[in-house]
Amino acid sequence: MQEKAVREIAGLLRKKPRVAVLTGAGISAESGIPTFRGKDGLWKQFRAEDLATPEAFERDPALVWEWYDWRRGIIAGREPNAGHLILARWEDELPGFVLITQNVDGLHRRAGSKNILELHGNIWQVRCLEESTVSDNFESPFPKIPPRCPACGGLLRPNVVWFGEALPRLILEQAQAACMTAELVFVIGTSAYVQPAASLPLVAAEAGAKIVEINPDYTPLSTYADHSFHRKAGEVLVEIDTALRDAD
Ligand code: APR
Repeated sequence: MQEKAVREIAGLLRKKPRVAVLTGAGISAESGIPTFRGKDGLWKQFRAEDLATPEAFERDPALVWEWYDWRRGIIAGREPNAGHLILARWEDELPGFVLITQNVDGLHRRAGSKNILELHGNIWQVRCLEESTVSDNFESPFPKIPPRCPACGGLLRPNVVWFGEALPRLILEQAQAACMTAELVFVIGTSAYVQPAASLPLVAAEAGAKIVEINPDYTPLSTYADHSFHRKAGEVLVEIDTALRDAD
């Protein structure tokens, strides 16, 4: 039954449609990076309001940075998995391909994806609270917590979107535009719990796109999917990519 769906999706991809992909923490799970809401998820061990909000950072920047430094340490020791690598290859092969991610782990970029709409920022970037300048920072662990801006001495924060903060407007608009024109949308490894990211596939479905969901669990988006694979992203993407190449 799923082989038929795999062949159908590979057949669609062969026509080089406009493809949009929305990923969540689940695509990095097979790289050994904890998700947020799964059974071993980060929000089961920590309270988001204590660590991922502007108020938490205002209250205790060192505590927030200790948590992000710990997460950076985990990610630094992990590699992109087959799912990340296949999406990077599809970007090269499909002219209208757009990758939209909620993930801040930077694994899509390390896998070779180039044009990435990072809705929630990037854990490997820091932003100066005084100058608002954003810079890459790969120190892991940080020599000093909380880190300070080398230029002005201002406090640095992780360049990620916290609960209660607006997403980067231009990036969100680009993601919405991509979903309005996409013909095929993959929704991979997201619980579809956090807005506005979770609404993007609905924008695409309303505009007539076919929706493919890849997630071991059911989500609020499952009912909108033309094809649902309740299995791991790495496995399903390998099957679809293999079927795509079989025809080459
Ligand atoms: N392959 C595909 N999906 C998987 C896999 C896997 N191997 N393992 C787990 N999943 C699924 C889980 O079933 C779950 O539905 O990935 C999803 C991860 O959901 P969340 O942990 O809620 O992560 P995400 O949807 O990315 O969260 C969105 O919430 O906390 C904020 O800013 C944070 O970007 C994050 C946002």
